[in-house]
Amino acid sequence: MQQNRGQWQSTAGFILAAAGSAIGLGNIWRFPYVAGTNGGAAFIVLYLACVLLICLPYLYCELAMGRHTKKNPVGAILKLRGGGPWTLVGALGVLTGVCILSYYGVIAGWAFGYIFKSFLAPSMTLGDFSANALLGIPLFAIFILMTVLVVARGVEKGIEKAARVLMPMLLLLMLLLIARGLTLPGASKGVEFLVKPDFSVVTMTTVLAALGQAFFSLSLGMGAMITYGSYLPKSANLQTSGAWVALFDTGIALLAGFMIFPALFALGGNPTAGPPLIFEALPAIFAQMPLGSLVAAIFFILLSIAALTSTVSLLEVPVSYFVDDRRWTRAKSVWVVGGAAFLIGLPAALEPSSPALQSISLMGATGFLGVMDLIWGNISLAVGAMLLCIFTGWVWGFRNAGAELREGGGMTAAGVAFWGFFVRFVCPLFIFLVLLSLFPLGTRILAAFLG
Ligand code: PFF
Repeated sequence: MQQNRGQWQSTAGFILAAAGSAIGLGNIWRFPYVAGTNGGAAFIVLYLACVLLICLPYLYCELAMGRHTKKNPVGAILKLRGGGPWTLVGALGVLTGVCILSYYGVIAGWAFGYIFKSFLAPSMTLGDFSANALLGIPLFAIFILMTVLVVARGVEKGIEKAARVLMPMLLLLMLLLIARGLTLPGASKGVEFLVKPDFSVVTMTTVLAALGQAFFSLSLGMGAMITYGSYLPKSANLQTSGAWVALFDTGIALLAGFMIFPALFALGGNPTAGPPLIFEALPAIFAQMPLGSLVAAIFFILLSIAALTSTVSLLEVPVSYFVDDRRWTRAKSVWVVGGAAFLIGLPAALEPSSPALQSISLMGATGFLGVMDLIWGNISLAVGAMLLCIFTGWVWGFRNAGAELREGGGMTAAGVAFWGFFVRFVCPLFIFLVLLSLFPLGTRILAAFLG
């Protein structure tokens, strides 16, 4: 079905689309609250180390697999390995795409609704807003629908075109809000929170949070970059393109920190507010500003834009599987997968109004949405990344993958050797240890070794 496959029209188009996938609620909603509850600057240092030492080498695995095979995660493994249990790792990626889309779409729907709420009901809390199923479900449906419509238009006309317009707009709007926050009296305390690390607050949980956040933020571990890499021509330089994507994503996460914390500290907010941080604290801050409703609306437009380029990639992974390997049309695939994500996400949309759904808990995560995020947004991405790292390094072979990375004037031979060491040893081992720390028995084993 090669005729159904698209190709990016330029490397810049790919970089924008891949950065669009990476930059999303993960950067603007999740990064600030996770950094806020994990000590600020110390967490950020760990996060940067994870991006550079673990995520970037791993990103090259996904890009090499994608471009070499020109397939979705399942098809890529089938092509490289001809079937067997490794195919299940690809299938896990496809399933993870649908499941992350399901709850991510709910939060994206709130962000979208907040554009209008800024004008219509500025003092309404997130609790009251999200507990109204008559708001939450239609907003969720609208967001899935927008995603379906972009992905239905295909790679060049839909995804690439949307990213080209939306991503520069996002950067511009963020810079505007940062300038506003930094000029408030008392903003420097927020800057300090972001740049003066206190390592005494770091625990294994902080490391896990940093690694999980880095994978989620860079869209890694479920084959999104295999899929996006599959639309790249041989002439593209994977090394520099991948580095640009990581740089943009990390830059936007840091900018989100600088957009939120200086203003938050200036106006006496609490950095450890958790998931509602930007939905509660920011509107409170905006309310104290001149033209506050307008600034709030701009902020939530920005957040919706960032979320849309990410939901598009979450949908594209399963859609590319059905198009490549099940020979479905793109139109049928987007509607079926989008519909499935909507149904799976309904409990997440209903959770704020349902004590039963709120009472679900697993390994420290609470509520249906929190548990979904733990399973799919944390564990599944880390497991997927560890296995795909082992697959690239040892099964497909780092030299074969390295040959793909060298195409298009990419990596040097020495670069491949250096990268190969990371994907064969450092990355899988580090991810394994972090995963181990999730379980009580694992924590005890680690403690015994680490003393
Ligand atoms: N990277 C996105 C964000 O930071 O919001 C979320 C995401 C998109 C995760 C696509 C995984 C993925 F495949």
